[in-house]
Amino acid sequence: MSSLVIEGGRPLRGAVGVVGAKNAVLKEMAAMLLAPGRYRLFNVPKILDVDLMGRVLSHMGAHVEIGEGELSVVIPAKVTPTAPIELVRTMRASIVVLGPLVARCGEARVALPGGDDLGARPIDIHMGGLEQMGVEFDLVHGELIARCERLVGAEIELKFPSVGATENVLLAACVAEGETSIINAAREPEIEDLADFLNAMGARVSGAGSAIIHVEGVESLHSADHSVVPDRLEAGTFAVGAAITGGDVTVTACNPPHLRVELKKLEEAGCRVERGEGWLRVVGPEKPRPVDFATLPYPGFHTDMQPQMVALLSVADGTSVVTENLYDARFRYMGELARMGADISTEWQHAVIRGVKELSGCQVLAHDIRAGAALVLAGLRAEGVTVVGDCEHIDRGYDHFVEKLESLGAEIERRDT
Ligand code: UD1
Repeated sequence: MSSLVIEGGRPLRGAVGVVGAKNAVLKEMAAMLLAPGRYRLFNVPKILDVDLMGRVLSHMGAHVEIGEGELSVVIPAKVTPTAPIELVRTMRASIVVLGPLVARCGEARVALPGGDDLGARPIDIHMGGLEQMGVEFDLVHGELIARCERLVGAEIELKFPSVGATENVLLAACVAEGETSIINAAREPEIEDLADFLNAMGARVSGAGSAIIHVEGVESLHSADHSVVPDRLEAGTFAVGAAITGGDVTVTACNPPHLRVELKKLEEAGCRVERGEGWLRVVGPEKPRPVDFATLPYPGFHTDMQPQMVALLSVADGTSVVTENLYDARFRYMGELARMGADISTEWQHAVIRGVKELSGCQVLAHDIRAGAALVLAGLRAEGVTVVGDCEHIDRGYDHFVEKLESLGAEIERRDT
């Protein structure tokens, strides 16, 4: 187990660059399964989940080379269409190989990922969409077996704009016979980026980023190179880092319009926010003001920014109410924040956060990527030393997190035990 040890009380100051989005690069790696050839991705984050997806692709026969900031993958003419449980369990996003595998091979065997620290996380919407395109499913010994003789385009209305389901259907639709419309599609910038990559591979996708995506199926695709969209969650985490420490941070290589609501909430909390083409600057207040918000699919407030924002509100000058609409178990980290002195009560998906004067450093555990980031931010503000255990979760999603925070003046070090 590794821990991050943080000496609190130092404002973050300076400039920090973000890299490509975890939630785009993983799906783009899955998209490569659609056609043989050599692919290159740029602006790739150095994170554990990219390594894991690399292992998933290697298991299928690909040759994967991960460098600093880039990734090279050779997909062979024949891939093994299976994803075993030891790989899928550690990274739920690997379920997105289902669509491309069944489209390419007519069959896929992917271990059912099950739930995780955020809750149950079913995949019924993924399966329903693919079924409409002619895919049949069987669940045998915990393995989901998908088969399809003829993949045909369809009009698919998602009952909820699930990010993963939109991506799975989109990936399969690129090489299906005829046209597919995905209605009530997720509108995330990462899906737009995936569509750009697919179009570079020869697909005909339009409307990505809106609620209706059209796909004209093509006979075959080819390999391509692509630069990954900036990670809005990494940018947002540094923005909250400036806010919670009363610091002054400029985030570069980012896309501020992708964080529209989150930055608006930071302004409501008393931050000065400046934005320009590819950069944003946040100057934090001495004491944040309370803010209410509810998480929603994009363009709403991102659920993956909720824990960081709650860490900020835990030291606000008043009471905030936060509603979590995406995950039923996303409040679990609040118990850890309470150990640091935060005053939070929860009922169903609502949390009432009564701002306290100061947090006090102690030992806490990171349950998931964003919970871990939130606890680190809380530690940067807290009096004394905070030790965030299980920080491997943070490694799954944050590129050079410790180094980047150090460059902004944080007193933080990693301890492997
Ligand atoms: C993706 C992101 C994750 C982010 C989430 C919401 C990746 C790797 N992960 O996850 O960081 O928090 O979007 O922005 O990109 N649901 C169902 N049935 C389904 C699919 C989803 O009920 O078939 C539910 C889920 O349990 C959850 C909600 O829908 O409550 C949102 O899930 P979804 O949008 O699919 O998120 P992911 O793609 O898993």
